[in-house]
Amino acid sequence: MSELSEHVRRNRAFWNEQADEYAALGRRAWAAAEPSWGVWSVAEAQLRMLPSDLDGLDAIELGCGTAYVSKWLADRGARPVGIDNSPAQLATARQLQAEHGVDFPLVMGNAEAVPYADASFDFAISEYGASIWCDPHRWIPEAARLLRPGGRLVFLVNAPLSMLCLPDEVDGAAGDRLLRRYFGMHRFEWADDESVEFHLPHGELIALLRSCGFDIDELIEVRPPADATTSSRYVPLEWARRWPCEDVWKASLR
Ligand SMILES: C[S@@+](CC[C@H](N)C(=O)[O-])C[C@H]1O[C@@H](n2cnc3c(N)ncnc32)[C@H](O)[C@@H]1O
Repeated sequence: MSELSEHVRRNRAFWNEQADEYAALGRRAWAAAEPSWGVWSVAEAQLRMLPSDLDGLDAIELGCGTAYVSKWLADRGARPVGIDNSPAQLATARQLQAEHGVDFPLVMGNAEAVPYADASFDFAISEYGASIWCDPHRWIPEAARLLRPGGRLVFLVNAPLSMLCLPDEVDGAAGDRLLRRYFGMHRFEWADDESVEFHLPHGELIALLRSCGFDIDELIEVRPPADATTSSRYVPLEWARRWPCEDVWKASLR
């Protein structure tokens, strides 16, 4: 454990604490007839985070949590592996695997240093997993290492603009003022919990992806559906109707 970097250690403790509360969301997602994504539960038909040709592909979910995304991959004929940094989150994932009679490898580890050989996978995905809890300068090169040429990377993150408008208090909601710098944004810590997140400006993320050998296929700035009534703890519905709060990135390894 001592070799873990500070943010990985802190995020492990944080997610071990959150796991009980998080299990209900995982259970609902495992049982869902159709995938939906993010704070507005946007339908898979709209975001297309899961390619239509997953059958027979080797896939990895980086920061799988309760592993419902891996379950959706398995439903589509892929051979998923889920890696997560929190034993407690993986315990929920294993419980849900048993309840659903679905089995795939669940690896306890850090998505910045994955114990698989180079070019082991055709598809990598992260929904608010490694994509926000790992340092992008570590996990994106690692995703590139793990993918075969032509392999695809898809991930969902908070949009940079929403991160600029969130107050430091962990339960605060985004307002209509820019509270921090855009240029240089990278590591985020909150006033009242121990977690550490990472968010880059769009230009830096594009440069990083390209320097790791990825071509960018699509960036979707997610909008709440017209009939959305729910509100995220962090982003009021009216905020998200005016400004981007979530981004879907899709990239392919050259
Ligand atoms: C919000 S959950 C997202 C996962 C999944 N989509 C879900 O909702 O269950 C974030 C997950 O990222 C994991 N995580 C944080 N840092 C990680 C790291 N360095 N390596 C692998 N997983 C990590 C946490 O343990 C947590 O389970």
